[in-house]
Amino acid sequence: MRQQKRLSLPKNVYPVDPWRIVEKQYYRSLTPRMETIFSIGNGYLGMRGVSDEGKPAFENGTFINGFYEKWPIVYGEEAYGFARTGQTIVNVTDTKTIRLYVDDECFDLDIANLLCFERMLDMRTGTLQRELLWETALGKQVLVRSTRIVSYDYKHLAAIAYEVTVLNADASVVISSEMRNEPYKQVNESDPRKANGLRGQVLVPQIHRDRFAHLSQGYRRRIVLSHTTRNSKINLACGVEHKIEVGSPYECKTECEGNFARFVVTVNAQAGVAIKLTKYISYHTSNSDILENLCSRVESTLDKAVSLGWSGILSSQKQYLDDFWRGSDIQIEANFDSLEAYYQTAELQQVIRFNLFQILQASARAEETGIPAKGLSGQAYEGHYFWDTEIYLLPFFIYTAPHSAKNLLKFRYRMLDAARKRAQELNLKGALFPWRTINGEEASAYYPAGTAQYHINADIIYALKKYVEVTGDEDFLYREGAEMLVETARMWVSLGSFQGEDRFEIHNVTGPDEYTAVVNNNVYTNMMARLNLQYAVRIIELLSENYPDYLAFLRDKTKLSMSEVKEWKRAADRMYIPFEEEMGIHSQDDSFLSKKFWDFDNTPADKYPLLLHFHPLEIYRHQVIKQADLVLAMFLLGSEFSLQSKKHNFDYYDPLTTGDSSLSAAVQGIMAFELGYLEKAWQYFDSGVFIDLHDVAGNTKDGCHMAGMGGSWMLMVYGIAGMRDEDGILSFDPKLPHDIQSLRFALKIGDGILRVDIKKNSTTYLLEQGSELVLYHQKQGVNLTADIPLMVVNSNVRA
Ligand code: BGC
Repeated sequence: MRQQKRLSLPKNVYPVDPWRIVEKQYYRSLTPRMETIFSIGNGYLGMRGVSDEGKPAFENGTFINGFYEKWPIVYGEEAYGFARTGQTIVNVTDTKTIRLYVDDECFDLDIANLLCFERMLDMRTGTLQRELLWETALGKQVLVRSTRIVSYDYKHLAAIAYEVTVLNADASVVISSEMRNEPYKQVNESDPRKANGLRGQVLVPQIHRDRFAHLSQGYRRRIVLSHTTRNSKINLACGVEHKIEVGSPYECKTECEGNFARFVVTVNAQAGVAIKLTKYISYHTSNSDILENLCSRVESTLDKAVSLGWSGILSSQKQYLDDFWRGSDIQIEANFDSLEAYYQTAELQQVIRFNLFQILQASARAEETGIPAKGLSGQAYEGHYFWDTEIYLLPFFIYTAPHSAKNLLKFRYRMLDAARKRAQELNLKGALFPWRTINGEEASAYYPAGTAQYHINADIIYALKKYVEVTGDEDFLYREGAEMLVETARMWVSLGSFQGEDRFEIHNVTGPDEYTAVVNNNVYTNMMARLNLQYAVRIIELLSENYPDYLAFLRDKTKLSMSEVKEWKRAADRMYIPFEEEMGIHSQDDSFLSKKFWDFDNTPADKYPLLLHFHPLEIYRHQVIKQADLVLAMFLLGSEFSLQSKKHNFDYYDPLTTGDSSLSAAVQGIMAFELGYLEKAWQYFDSGVFIDLHDVAGNTKDGCHMAGMGGSWMLMVYGIAGMRDEDGILSFDPKLPHDIQSLRFALKIGDGILRVDIKKNSTTYLLEQGSELVLYHQKQGVNLTADIPLMVVNSNVRA
């Protein structure tokens, strides 16, 4: 690893706290980053942590997973088969903003005289809370408290409680709760990780309703706006129901037009008497349902919210999170040897929970979609789904929330027709999944680091295989999985070719390392393709022996002939994997080792990430790596490498790896743990787990790195606990650092839950619910029966 260092933070930005992220002071300069850190979401709906009053804002974003606009990609020079249509997640109608005026003075966080301020993300209650005391120009002290929530149980519901009390005087208070849809501004963005093609009015106004007038029908202070995206023609309706509790005289009114609506309450506030505004917010989207229906669905959700009430929504959120933490928490106990060690461990506990919580926020209700690279915490990478999901997030879901893992795999299955079309377009057989997409079509405009990453096919199959091995969900494998296997296997044999009788090669591909593009025989791609082919052969054989009906159905649907299966086997058996005998290492691809070395010594820290400072061609002609590539193959397919070859490969490739992608640290770290390079492992661990909370890559402002969040679970489970699970065989080789007294986590396996409790000298395994389980602890077999804990000694305990 060449550069990444933790950026220094003003002290006390995040005081250590096991369950909360607390900001004790308002730091203007940290606004962009804090919007991401304090974003809240449920996998369907996400809101950035912009202050309640809507200002200051770096990106006042509200996002709905899969709600996108499309736009024509314009190339300077066209070529056949280039991706045609860009897709970008849309920043939808804002419903968060509440403006506050006291004696006509507007509350503006930036210039307000704040007597105290605290903002807090509470990961046990699933709420974002803020409390501040503002002294107005007239010396009036105004206490403002707010709580924001995006519900897990009620997918389409968010809510805000906003409370204002003028403590020391009477005052005139105006609260304006707003809904606003703004046109996109022209941006001049040169960072390819952020760029998007949206300009102007993306959401075209449709029905709008103001129900304030119909009190007698039970509609109270309700506003509904609806829009349709200009090109993709997806419908959106959103609405807000207001409930106001005031002990002082007040008046209210609403305004409502196509792109703007508000509810305004004017209060002659008496000193010390609170004004409480509760906003229930609902969003519904559809590309098939008509707007009138969507508006009704919004109103039904609001009715439900009113009947639950604020406390009902809070308590369902708490229950949901109790369940989540019961199954997904990683608990770390510190040694009390030194205060520093204690502090570091407590900080680690906090960040791990933050990362797991971010995964939940990006996924809980992502039932018919994928998980965008930034979750719903920012618009970077345009809300696209990448291989990040299958390789970096699926392990967490498979072991803690298998239903989410299944939904994500099903989502890929539903993309199969688009992937078939894409393969046809590229003159390939079977199906080629898109490198980046929202709607299933390829949206990557730069094919060398996009479409050329054919490995996405095998990544999906790798995840499918692991899902089936861990959950035992054969039904899904035979019904949906098998079809994906047939079509992906077909793609590989048509992409590659036999060079002579006994060598199957795959040319002009890009592996995970995007700093080396369009090369022949990338080891990662070839090995993963081999796994894809072998698994396809195995499952077809299995169907043929045991489930002929399933096979008949599959053959009918895919027109599969058994000679194809033979061909897959021949290709897998003869897959070429470059290896340099003399150097004792794999070459990352056919040409990698013949390239010049990158001059790391003369590349200053401010030239990273290299992709922002050097032309791709300059990068491509050097031995310089963006992210784990061969090292990732050694992790995912570890049993196919000897320990010695892993060491040689790691020693060679690690120094060439910049870590310019957040996907790198976890994998380099896990392999460093495995190989006993513990100092290096901890460096990677640190930059991996703190990627967002400490803004390691300097771009947390653009959204959370979801692969990094999944990577940090992997660092704990595959790194420190040394778990391996190839082909369904479970083993552990814990490497607990001295500062940590114990590490505990749970894994769902089949019908059971395996609880793992690692201490310095011993590890205890307990199987709950299941019947029995065999695993390996540092190569020693452990047979578990339900509810009987088994303690085994850790060998190689370090002092
Ligand atoms: C990485 C890709 C990743 C994408 C989205 C890029 O920087 O190189 O591997 O899929 O980010 O996270």
